[in-house]
Amino acid sequence: MPRPKSSNPRSRVVNFRLTSDQYDEMEVCAKREGFSSLSGYLRNLHSLVAAQHQKQEVVKEDSATYPLLLPTLFEETKHGKMYLGDSLGLLHNTLKPESVDLVMTSPPFGLVRKKDYGNEDADQYVQWFRPFAAGFKRVLKKEGSLVIDIGSAWKAGLPTKSLYHFELLLTLCKEYGFHLCQEHYWWNPAKLPTPAEWVNIRRIRVKDAINCIWWLSRTPWPKASNRRVLAPYSDSMKSLLKNGYTPKLRPSGHDISDKFGVDNGGSVPPNLIALANTESNGGYQEYCRANSLPVHPARFPSGIPEYFIRMLTNPGDLVLDPFAGSCVTGEVAESLERKWICCELHEDYLKGARARFIGLKPRLRKQELSSYQIYPPCALNGTFDTTPLPSDGGFKRKPKQTSNRLANKPLPFYAQQAAQG
Ligand SMILES: C[S@@+](CC[C@H](N)C(=O)[O-])C[C@H]1O[C@@H](n2cnc3c(N)ncnc32)[C@H](O)[C@@H]1O
Repeated sequence: MPRPKSSNPRSRVVNFRLTSDQYDEMEVCAKREGFSSLSGYLRNLHSLVAAQHQKQEVVKEDSATYPLLLPTLFEETKHGKMYLGDSLGLLHNTLKPESVDLVMTSPPFGLVRKKDYGNEDADQYVQWFRPFAAGFKRVLKKEGSLVIDIGSAWKAGLPTKSLYHFELLLTLCKEYGFHLCQEHYWWNPAKLPTPAEWVNIRRIRVKDAINCIWWLSRTPWPKASNRRVLAPYSDSMKSLLKNGYTPKLRPSGHDISDKFGVDNGGSVPPNLIALANTESNGGYQEYCRANSLPVHPARFPSGIPEYFIRMLTNPGDLVLDPFAGSCVTGEVAESLERKWICCELHEDYLKGARARFIGLKPRLRKQELSSYQIYPPCALNGTFDTTPLPSDGGFKRKPKQTSNRLANKPLPFYAQQAAQG
């Protein structure tokens, strides 16, 4: 690499330590890339990283370029505000930069089967999301988090799935510089077996019962504590805490220390959130019906925002839901004494959301302390595994079996064995 002109000579000498393995590895890489010296190689690496940052800066500057209609204040409570209109106006104008502690939201999903409130086509989804991504980056504090609950989508007419929610995640991280703190999966045990064509009729796919929840942040170190969201101990753990535990080596080779027997008040939950979306939302729904308002068709259960608001914010922090729908996030934030801002495009949904704040302070719905049963895979193995696999992958729809179904059903495995003597 030619030396820069003498007006800007390389006068700084930098020393840093490497292990000899690191040094050797770097030297090999530098040679492979055609650099005659390690310093040339490092300067080149730096320019690549700097270019990446510059790209992100361009994304950040987008704010000025959006033609913005500012949402209007619709309702105010002790801790929060509901806005009516396009949340891009809030994200790029009304809200101050670095003022939000948590963006907790569930955007319109790129569903193939469109819902009442209008979903973007899966292919255009990421493109549509870009100005929101830039806005989230603008308004989030450095130590804040962005939590996006996003459902998956099937490709139209095919038994295969869109990659749109993964593409969104990659775009948020690679282009907007967000860090993926941890993906969560929300399992809704009450979800219906859809799409019926693939699941119930052709029987070539299983029930789609998971939503992805991307927990992202601006730095790798957003404020968070899992102590805020502990789960009850299992019965075996309770008995272990009561009766004591003898430290020993597990069959897996893990050394379980005596610290294992310490009562920490509950167990650290997994990143699988099991929550049936069957909240009747009594007051909300009754209010909507009584006032001829639409009940929002895609509400999440309050347990979802409750979990993330508790884990990622302190009382008094600001929570934002830019795709507010019926304002579940606002209701939970109000109950937990966090400041909140919700924004929704459709006035009727906000009119209905008022129900959540009528009267005294909103209360968190009592979550039932029931757990759900999920069987290990192949729990019925041997009974139905004689079903023939369609050689065309289910492409051709089988004519409906109307009669004699049981007679045509293959014998269960154990019965075949018995028949063979
Ligand atoms: C999946 S729903 C959110 C439901 C909400 N989490 C709840 O539990 O009621 C997404 C909502 O975003 C709203 N929306 C879509 N684009 C918007 C925008 N640019 N600004 C504000 N709201 C928007 C839609 O009208 C829809 O009500």
